Amino acid sequence: MEKYDVLIIGAGIAGLYAAMNIPKEKNVLVVCKDIPWECNTFYAQGGMVTAQGEADIPLHVKDTMIAGAEHNDREVVEILSRTSLETTKDIIDRGMQFDVGETGELLFTKEAAHSTARIIHAGGDATGRYMHHFMMTQNKHKLQRNTLVYDLLIENGRCFGAKALVNYEHKTILADDVIIASGGVGSLYEFNTNSRTVSADIHGICVEKGIELADMEMMQFHPTVFVKTPFARKLLLTEALRGEGAWIVSKDGRRFLFDYDERGELASRDIVSRAIFDHKRKTGQEVYLDFSMFEEKWFAKRFPNITRSFEAIGYKFPKDRVPISPAFHYAVGGIKCDTDGCVEGIDGLYVIGEASSTGVHGANRLASNSLLEGVVFAKRAVDHLLGKEKVEMAVPKFDKEYKNIVHHENDKIYKHRLRKIMWEEAGIIRTKKGLLKAKNLIYDMKNREIGRLLELRLNTAAAIIEAALKRKVSLGTHHIEK
Ligand code: SIN
Repeated sequence: MEKYDVLIIGAGIAGLYAAMNIPKEKNVLVVCKDIPWECNTFYAQGGMVTAQGEADIPLHVKDTMIAGAEHNDREVVEILSRTSLETTKDIIDRGMQFDVGETGELLFTKEAAHSTARIIHAGGDATGRYMHHFMMTQNKHKLQRNTLVYDLLIENGRCFGAKALVNYEHKTILADDVIIASGGVGSLYEFNTNSRTVSADIHGICVEKGIELADMEMMQFHPTVFVKTPFARKLLLTEALRGEGAWIVSKDGRRFLFDYDERGELASRDIVSRAIFDHKRKTGQEVYLDFSMFEEKWFAKRFPNITRSFEAIGYKFPKDRVPISPAFHYAVGGIKCDTDGCVEGIDGLYVIGEASSTGVHGANRLASNSLLEGVVFAKRAVDHLLGKEKVEMAVPKFDKEYKNIVHHENDKIYKHRLRKIMWEEAGIIRTKKGLLKAKNLIYDMKNREIGRLLELRLNTAAAIIEAALKRKVSLGTHHIEK
């Protein structure tokens, strides 16, 4: 049986930055389900927020709280903003190259609901990819692919490691500390922008163990996504496009968002997503993202990734406008933890990044606060972990038998059914009737012969539905109609 000082589940920005901050003398294992770049970090386009010095902290906190419908924990938001000064400096000092201007100064962009330009970016619109590559090269610890965690080893309020399929072989991985950095829940939704590996398994394990999930009704939908592709992951069109001046228009070219909010394209993403959804529902017509105001050379340099990927499917930017729809993007809620990532009541278990719920995002995450969240709370969790006294404990026997980990023959059909019902009934606009319909369907599937991974997905989906049913009044991303 393998034994480590620290097991990190997930190799996105939170998992890798945690690994980078643990001394190389420690025996650390970072695992990922598939290949390391199949994670949400890799697909992040817009950038990473960083407070523009001390003076910007109150304003960044205010913007984050307004976007989050004041449901945020202010103290946690202050930690996020203040720590950004330290973590951004650290990442740059280690060698990460963000986009700079002619005199070498960092370039800042703006996204919706930010009152100032405070978002740094890399590769134009490929920030996540650049940061992920950089952190992969910085990580000195062992990184193991094809490791599908299907249980956490928890007994008497302590976590001892995890059970996983490693290249389809059952393995028990023991560790003094386990850090969950497994991302969100994208695969639960028919239309989503997430990596295919992000499928709520670890959340589902937590439900099974009685570990609290918080704010699970707060699921965020990105307003500008091209969904007309056959692949599960839909194509994101970064908010930075609107930050730089792109418009959202109706079929006849009208900027109808001003009918919904005076900030138009720069209203927070929950408001913009609902407005697009509502306009489509009322008119039955497409909504478009229009870049025709941009100069071609500038656009190709600022948004090279989007220019290339849409060229491959026949669009010529910035001349062509593109039909858009909101799609699931980010789990605001998650596994409840404190500001050091500690999961209450379970020693040796931490959670960081999108998988976690610290209360920082309130009811709706402010654009580009997520890469920042990944680094800030990874650093805090590692500081806590390294600073505590080591307590040796005998490892209990974990001999539960598991059948059908990967799938059962009908799982594919049920997974598809789940994604559809979550999109239709637990999506942008919800009703009590629809949520109850989804709940019945989920419990019906849970009672059938299904594989473990589907069971875990259903646990998480049920947690979202239960939380949505409990919150009777609309707030942030949770919008409920009579
Ligand atoms: C985007 O580039 O629009 C996504 C940024 C984010 O989700 O914060």
